[in-house]
Amino acid sequence: MSDEVYQPSEDTLLLLRAVEGLGKRFKRSIEIGSGSGVVSARLGEFSDEIHAVDISLDAVRRTRDLLKRRGMWGRAHLLCGDLLTAYRSSELFDLIVSNPPYLEPEVGDQAIEGGWKLIDRLVEDASKKIKRGGVLLIVVSSLTSNLEFIFNKLRRRGFSIEIVGKAKLFFEELLAVKCVKE
Ligand SMILES: C[S@@+](CC[C@H](N)C(=O)[O-])C[C@H]1O[C@@H](n2cnc3c(N)ncnc32)[C@H](O)[C@@H]1O
Repeated sequence: MSDEVYQPSEDTLLLLRAVEGLGKRFKRSIEIGSGSGVVSARLGEFSDEIHAVDISLDAVRRTRDLLKRRGMWGRAHLLCGDLLTAYRSSELFDLIVSNPPYLEPEVGDQAIEGGWKLIDRLVEDASKKIKRGGVLLIVVSSLTSNLEFIFNKLRRRGFSIEIVGKAKLFFEELLAVKCVKE
């Protein structure tokens, strides 16, 4: 088991709580940046079809192993890739969730570093691959740069935004943001 896969942390728990709070069943869900797979496995409990993508092959393997152990393999689709770039524009999702690496690039660790530019690309990608009425659920941090820019972009791409969860840590506040595509 690789040590480089992101270990479930406070941000993971915040996303899990937000996912549970959605309280409905989805046909086709995807997690971007699945890491250990714990969020994807939760999605699998209330999604007909579960997709997960991560840029790290170790993370994809870890997610695969967990989904297999949970008996979800028959309706799971895993990809090693960059955000949703591997999906055709005709492939639309009802639910897209992500706890992206929101820290600004510093030491080159892509499990935790990507920053606002990665989130900006994620929003762009997700806005093209989500159904009308679909939900995009993302975790951001008070340390994320240009948050207002990101929120404005979400609005321009036709999403309504609601903060559905918060977690105060020693040095930052995490936010779970629910965005519904109008
Ligand atoms: C903060 S971790 C979250 C992992 C897991 N979802 C969780 O909540 O514990 C971010 C994950 O995104 C992945 N990642 C980073 N850049 C990515 C990209 N461009 N496309 C897809 N996944 C990416 C990392 O490898 C890492 O597994």
